[in-house]
Amino acid sequence: MTGGKLIIKEIETKVYQGQKPGTSGLRKRVVEFQQENYLDNFVQSIFNALPSEQVKGSLFVVGGDGRYFNKDAIQVIFKIAAANGVRKILVGQNGLLSTPAISSLVRSKQALGAILLTASHNPGGPKGDFGIKYNISNGGPAPESITNAIYQQTLSIKTIVKAENVEVRDLSKIGVYEWDGFSIEIVDSIDCYLTLMKDIFNFSQLRQLISDKRFTLKFDAMSGVTGVYAKRILSQELGLSIDNLINCEPSEDFNNGHPDPNLTYAPLLVDMMNKGLFDMGCASDGDGDRNMILGNKFFLNPSDSVAVIAANYKSIPYFQKTGLKGLARSMPTSAALEHVAKSLQVPFFEVPTGWKFFGNLMDAGQLSICGEESFGTGSDHIREKDGLWAVLCWLQILADRNQTQLSNPNDKLVSLQDIVREHWEKFGRNYYSRYDYEEVDAKGADEMMKSLLQQIQSKSLIGRKFHQDVYEIVECDDFEYFDPIDKSVSSHQGLRIKFSDGSRIIYRLSGTGSSGATIRIYFDKYDKVSLLNDPQQHLKDLIHIALDLSKLQQYTGRNEPNVIT
Ligand code: G6P
Ligand code: ZN
Repeated sequence: MTGGKLIIKEIETKVYQGQKPGTSGLRKRVVEFQQENYLDNFVQSIFNALPSEQVKGSLFVVGGDGRYFNKDAIQVIFKIAAANGVRKILVGQNGLLSTPAISSLVRSKQALGAILLTASHNPGGPKGDFGIKYNISNGGPAPESITNAIYQQTLSIKTIVKAENVEVRDLSKIGVYEWDGFSIEIVDSIDCYLTLMKDIFNFSQLRQLISDKRFTLKFDAMSGVTGVYAKRILSQELGLSIDNLINCEPSEDFNNGHPDPNLTYAPLLVDMMNKGLFDMGCASDGDGDRNMILGNKFFLNPSDSVAVIAANYKSIPYFQKTGLKGLARSMPTSAALEHVAKSLQVPFFEVPTGWKFFGNLMDAGQLSICGEESFGTGSDHIREKDGLWAVLCWLQILADRNQTQLSNPNDKLVSLQDIVREHWEKFGRNYYSRYDYEEVDAKGADEMMKSLLQQIQSKSLIGRKFHQDVYEIVECDDFEYFDPIDKSVSSHQGLRIKFSDGSRIIYRLSGTGSSGATIRIYFDKYDKVSLLNDPQQHLKDLIHIALDLSKLQQYTGRNEPNVIT
């Protein structure tokens, strides 16, 4: 179909304050995005922040997690992109593309960048959140230098240009729509990503495991975008019965749910796994980059998950080919991964929270596998974390470990928790927990962090002892990251307190919320001997110290966290 010449109009606009992208793009309530030109201002600011000679004639990828306002936002992006000289847009069928699938498309089609429409794991619907994020040509989130430049543009924007006659309301049919010098191609949401997964894993081995009666798997897409990927990859390609896929119809408000795969917000799956109904249970978030993996009556901590995947990298065909270049975790993630890096003698990096910090290391060929405590796991196959990839990694590790058992019908299979426990026996265990205090009063949260910072800067905490002197503070700082590749410095990335036994307490304010503030406190304690305790019990003293030092209750009025991981 051809739409003829682009009819470009210049529209005057007024500045909206507060369009500063957070950890992962601009996230606000849908009603904010629905204000006149609110989204348009931000999209135009993306193009204003990029060198115009790069934008002219460029290829972009656009798609989202299917939340409310996704479809309207896509039409706005079409019009503004066309008017700013973009040559072509690839958009996912029905506007759907998972965040990892966008990253893989950008890389394989060599696009200049992507615009991702998602607020990730935040609730959706007319009263929920919407989000927009810009990714660069390596397929990863834009670095702070670019997001800051976009923000600066939002503060001085006066006009928006739009190609009025560009519109493709029906995004259900694969195909190309053309105008003079501009086109939109609706692409299958899964194809490109599936090709990549087939390259990384041994699908016939995975099929054998999934078809074996001794192994049962349940997958929960939490009504987010991964439903369409799970149906095609886990069910059609790998033979998982459709009955074992739950919440796999993408819904604009996530079926009135909170699409965050954790112990609180995935109660259906957690309940089934606690009852011991399945050997492995997995869930992913709204846009498909996060993952939660559970064993039979067993919670796999994300910090352990990345460590075990790294320790078993030889089970995964992709890493057999590429080798292990290096390992990395975000600062608040438990130190479990370090023990693996040491034992395998590969480089190890500790970066701030936010996936964008891994990208530089990957581009420089220094990083293969990385993970975050916030249910993010991934590798250098793309530049985003990847929920389904993590699930396939675990299936691959299980399939590989059970090669002999799978061909002997009378053998018992080695389970996910067997593999984790063996890992702890070899490397020791990092007991780990995170407390989230969501939507607390922003002023109270700021004051609490300021007071902690003061104590840290004055060094008054050093040498303080707690619990009959079992715990002594030996180091504390306001985490600052020096990027070894682009030499940039990121300051104020979380407050760290370290004890003489290596235990850590970390305080951070979340960068992904959309209203109020969320305080996160992280606890990490290493043990080489006693491996099977309950983490909350094992960390009791450390938790007590953290609440005491921060006077959290006093500053926020909160007695309990909303979410405990
Ligand atoms: C997003 C990013 C992650 C990051 C997380 C932190 O999911 O993609 O890389 O770990 O946000 O969220 P927080 O709310 O703790 O800032
Ligand atoms: Zn996400």
